[in-house]
Amino acid sequence: MNELEIEKLLNWYQENKRDLPWRHTSDPYKIWISEIMLQQTRVEVVKEYYKRFLAKLPRMEDLAKVKEDTLLKLWEGLGYYSRAKNLKKCASRVLELGMKTLPEEEESLLDLPGIGPYTAGAILSIAYQKCYPAIDGNVLRVLSRIYEDDRDILTPVVRKEYTSLLKSLMKEESAREFTESFIELGALVCIPNGIPHCKDCPFKDICKSFKHQTMLEYPKKKLKKERKKIKKTVFVFQFDGEYVIQKRKDGVLKGLYEFPNEDIEMTPKECYEKLSQKGYKIKSVESLGCFKHVFSHLEWHMTAYLIFLKEKPKNLKFYSKRRIEHEYSLPSAFQQIFQKLK
Ligand code: ADE
Repeated sequence: MNELEIEKLLNWYQENKRDLPWRHTSDPYKIWISEIMLQQTRVEVVKEYYKRFLAKLPRMEDLAKVKEDTLLKLWEGLGYYSRAKNLKKCASRVLELGMKTLPEEEESLLDLPGIGPYTAGAILSIAYQKCYPAIDGNVLRVLSRIYEDDRDILTPVVRKEYTSLLKSLMKEESAREFTESFIELGALVCIPNGIPHCKDCPFKDICKSFKHQTMLEYPKKKLKKERKKIKKTVFVFQFDGEYVIQKRKDGVLKGLYEFPNEDIEMTPKECYEKLSQKGYKIKSVESLGCFKHVFSHLEWHMTAYLIFLKEKPKNLKFYSKRRIEHEYSLPSAFQQIFQKLK
């Protein structure tokens, strides 16, 4: 790959780029928010979340001061909630350090919570026009195909090598477009699933895997560890048209709300007996069905029951559907059960 090839890529980008909300700004705060959202979520989904987030929290100070519940509500449905918690931590740290916005030095950015080499590169190149590449899985896919690179793309050695290659090809006047054009090529042409659109690719003259028609063999896949599967019973307590939700104290989804649940599978009868033993006065138990939620490292297989109570227990807090919908962050895993109640 040489300067001429990069010129072809930048020309291709000018002709083909999508009009995305974060492409109308170079405010480092806004670029940072977009990049964090885009890390594990599709562009089409991020668009609306990005606009709503910035309408509510337009400045670093707003994010540093926001209540965690409000923040998690804004993030509801995006998943990987540690991203949101780190955003707030990072904003507070930046302000504590006496800075008005994110720093312009790579070292200082990497010291901040939730900012790794990819995000630092994206902020430096897109917001500050500096020659730091942003290398994510999409860029690594493009490169592994161009070079028919048989190595595991997730290893630090590979990343380091491609970082210096791309850095040597970047120019300050087009640093932003350089980063965006690689991202765009990975999204529109050198796609992850299905046959890539090689005839439209600005790199088709140098791409080894196009030459040998081996595109689908790259990047080389490492065998993935199987996800742990957890069976759960979810109790949706109902009294007087209201339902119980509670804050998760630890583990995955900590700080978000849930319907009470246990990590075992129960029949309606077992459910009735167990809850009666605990002292709940139950009118009836109704099955809501089975639900699955997949996290990156585990799967929940949930059986949910709607439990109509005769008396309101003192130890449980009940909420209307409207409040659950508008005020509390109920993650997707439980949202699908909540939708059944509507
Ligand atoms: N994915 C990661 N960063 C992106 C960006 N800036 N634009 C579009 N998709 C992206």
